[in-house]
Amino acid sequence: MYINLSGLNILVTGASKGIGKAISTKLAEAGATVAVHYNQNVREAENLAHILGNESKAFQADLSLPDEAGKLFERVSLEMGSIEILINNAAIAKSVDIKAPEEEWIKNWEETMMVNLTSAAVLCKKAIEHFIQRKASGRIVNICSRAAFRGDTQEYMSYAASKAGLISLTSSIARAFGKQGIKAFSVAPGFVRTDMAQEFMNQYGEEHAKEDIALERLTEPKDIAPLITFIASGMADHATGATFDVNAASYVH
Ligand SMILES: NC(=O)c1ccc[n+]([C@@H]2O[C@H](COP(=O)([O-])OP(=O)(O)OC[C@H]3O[C@@H](n4cnc5c(N)ncnc54)[C@H](OP(=O)(O)O)[C@@H]3O)[C@@H](O)[C@H]2O)c1
Repeated sequence: MYINLSGLNILVTGASKGIGKAISTKLAEAGATVAVHYNQNVREAENLAHILGNESKAFQADLSLPDEAGKLFERVSLEMGSIEILINNAAIAKSVDIKAPEEEWIKNWEETMMVNLTSAAVLCKKAIEHFIQRKASGRIVNICSRAAFRGDTQEYMSYAASKAGLISLTSSIARAFGKQGIKAFSVAPGFVRTDMAQEFMNQYGEEHAKEDIALERLTEPKDIAPLITFIASGMADHATGATFDVNAASYVH
């Protein structure tokens, strides 16, 4: 099966490293032009855009700030002319203990919701408006998490809750806008070997993460990217609204 994404502009948030970088690489290999979004890792993002080719470009935005998501979408669509696919991948997983002072606990909750859910939702809103205005079909892929279904440890409750919100946002978009040619998918990884997972690994150990899974090795970013490329191709369009689990059978539901 041959996947050709040439002529498609795809915005991938959080593409400077980890899963977002692997997704961007696979999409560009299939011919897509990628808007490589980053927050702090400017050098990595610019290098990646250069390596990807196909006129890919890097775009900065801090998605913990309320206005940045909308502005990011506008900048990318202006510079690239159009956006056909949005991949909401950027996220944070910051721990806070239940015994932390209330102010600190709420700060963690609000920052997590802003990056992982509110900014992703604003990007979805902008994408839907963009697709409808252009009378073009479009796809949205939201990178969620196994934690949305299984829950997480007490230090990461805000993370799990943000990802559960993203799942229902995605299915609502699929149900509401399918007739206008818009498809939306959730992808829910389990534990994936990236910087994000490192904090958990430092705290609980790699063996703890491995104990959960049915396969021999931990999932890596390269194990997620081909599925996203397949979804981007349109061949999975009749699965719109679905969640694709990629968790090495650590949580089967
Ligand atoms: N790793 C896992 O075990 C795992 C499991 C389930 C789901 N996921 C999901 O998979 C996705 C990618 O995770 P990952 O493990 O690849 O994470 P990662 O290696 O920590 O990368 C996170 C990306 O998000 C960007 N980002 C972080 N804070 C941001 C902010 N305030 N504004 C804008 N961008 C920001 C980072 O940009 P800069 O580096 O440029 O600042 C980076 O590109 C996330 O949605 C995550 O929840 C991961």
